[in-house]
Amino acid sequence: MVVSLKIIYIGLVLGLVVAYTQAASISDNSLPTYDTIVVGLGASGTAAATTLARAGRRVLGLEAQERIGGRVYTVPFDDGVVEVGAEWIHGQIGSRTYELAVQNNVSIIADETSVGGYRSDGTLLDDNTMNLMKELVEKGMEIAADSPEPPEPLGQYITRKLMQYIEKKHPELLNDKEFLAQFFEYMDLNIDTYEATTSWNDVSTASQSVELEGNQAMSWHRNGYKTLFEILLNTYRNGSGLPTLQYKLNTEVTKITLSEAPNKVFVTCKDGSTYAADNVIVTPSVAVLKERHATLFSLPLPKDKVDAINNIKMGVESKIMFRYPNRWWGDNGFFAFLWRTEDKSGTEDVWVKKIPAVSTPMGASNVLTLWLTGDYAVMAENLPDDEVRAKGMALLRRFLGANITIPEPVEMLRSLWHKNPHVLGSFTYDDVDYPHHVTARADLARPITDEKGVPRILFAGEATHTQQFSTVHGAVDTGYREANRLLGNTV
Ligand SMILES: Cc1cc2nc3c(=O)[nH]c(=O)nc-3n(C[C@H](O)[C@H](O)[C@H](O)COP(=O)(O)OP(=O)(O)OC[C@H]3O[C@@H](n4cnc5c(N)ncnc54)[C@H](O)[C@@H]3O)c2cc1C
Ligand SMILES: *[C@@H]1O[C@H](CO)[C@@H](O)[C@H](O)[C@H]1NC(C)=O
Ligand SMILES: *[C@@H]1O[C@H](CO)[C@@H](O)[C@H](O)[C@H]1NC(C)=O
Ligand SMILES: *[C@@H]1O[C@H](CO)[C@@H](O)[C@H](O)[C@H]1NC(C)=O
Repeated sequence: MVVSLKIIYIGLVLGLVVAYTQAASISDNSLPTYDTIVVGLGASGTAAATTLARAGRRVLGLEAQERIGGRVYTVPFDDGVVEVGAEWIHGQIGSRTYELAVQNNVSIIADETSVGGYRSDGTLLDDNTMNLMKELVEKGMEIAADSPEPPEPLGQYITRKLMQYIEKKHPELLNDKEFLAQFFEYMDLNIDTYEATTSWNDVSTASQSVELEGNQAMSWHRNGYKTLFEILLNTYRNGSGLPTLQYKLNTEVTKITLSEAPNKVFVTCKDGSTYAADNVIVTPSVAVLKERHATLFSLPLPKDKVDAINNIKMGVESKIMFRYPNRWWGDNGFFAFLWRTEDKSGTEDVWVKKIPAVSTPMGASNVLTLWLTGDYAVMAENLPDDEVRAKGMALLRRFLGANITIPEPVEMLRSLWHKNPHVLGSFTYDDVDYPHHVTARADLARPITDEKGVPRILFAGEATHTQQFSTVHGAVDTGYREANRLLGNTV
């Protein structure tokens, strides 16, 4: 009995070895060969590639899109720039991203604009109501950081705790059912813009997400978030780049093959080219991996990794940006929208009614940004430009246009992250099933090693950060993590 089990075991091991060595049919003699190939040059891939290149490693970066940056995308617009993707550095203390800006003397400014509140009948919230809203939003965000046992949907928890707070501090509000309805709807959508969710009840209170200390909205303003990439690549201020780093744009990787003899990883691209390296760092979003992991890797991924890819949820967040001939909105830089119950039955599209706020980007003078999240962002992405523009403008006129004539925008620019085949969404969140798969992010981050235990296929990207997922600084840190794994450094 024991003997036959052993034979079966040896048979299994042989089978694996045979499967792994199949790849040797790709001859590596003539192939361009590198120490490391990095798939994807977003924040994580660029951090990984440049860290390795700075240590003298020969690195090839392969990026499917026509530009470096991934979900960071600074675009010239109006008299400056706007961010189609990430906009702020969230937190300062312990942020490599913030430190890189400081060390390079790039000014980073706190985005501390004044907020105005508006109702769907075109009335302005008075100062008392506005202060009350600010107090409740702040309290709600504080509650959002709790980790109650047992875990529950975030919205349900915040609602319960906030109602307890209101009973104690503002009992008179308990009679104002209309205000409470308007406020909780706003709070739900406000949380959704942080989480890229459709509802705040899509998020689990068990989430391991941790904010870095310091200001949560530090802006690259007119420099643009793209400056981070120039710093990493050593091209900022006419820097000479990194001699051992090569990269190719418009080059989508379609196959990653791990081979034992020769001891290489082969990376094949859509254009038919193949490159060889000792190892590869894989950084596409978890949504791209969900769609393509079964064909992207020559061998089936381990079960824990496939489970992780399936279990980590990718949310959607969109921006619609309007450029105007002038700054017609006065001093406020942020406008919160409260829908009155009686107006909610209007004929507007549902996604229009789920736009909680409008902000002014710091990189340009005459631009307003409308924010959408979750399914509502997807709905808008699927509509033609003209319709989105008309419906977005109608919303602005309803809330902000009671006493002024709002001009037509000169130009519209909007994000299409969900449609982008190389991203397929915006960022990840810990959903209500998270308590059943708490190790998912760590499982995704774990490298695939060869039979000697040497890491050969490594994984970086925001989704692989257990605490700072969904951010640029988190993505950058995962790139450093994997580069340092290969350099044998502990970080
Ligand atoms: C609208 C929006 C607003 C945001 N706001 C903020 C914010 O204010 N602050 C913040 O910190 N974060 C924000 N984020 C999140 C932040 O942008 C991301 O967490 C971070 O940029 C992700 O970096 P990454 O390297 O993990 O992934 P990505 O940036 O997605 O990089 C992966 C790269 O891989 C490429 N790729 C995919 N498949 C292939 C393939 N087969 N072959 C070759 N290349 C491939 C992609 O084109 C992409 O360039 C926002 C995101 C969005 C969308
Ligand atoms: C940043 O500014 C300081 C003080 O002006 C200067 O000493 C330093 O060299 C500058 N650093 C860079 C990277 O330009
Ligand atoms: C417009 O004017 C009316 C009447 O003065 C006022 O009640 C309302 O709050 C104003 N709306 C805005 C958006 O300023
Ligand atoms: C970079 O080079 C250009 C062209 O040589 C020059 O005009 C510019 O001043 C340089 N910028 C910096 C920051 O040195």
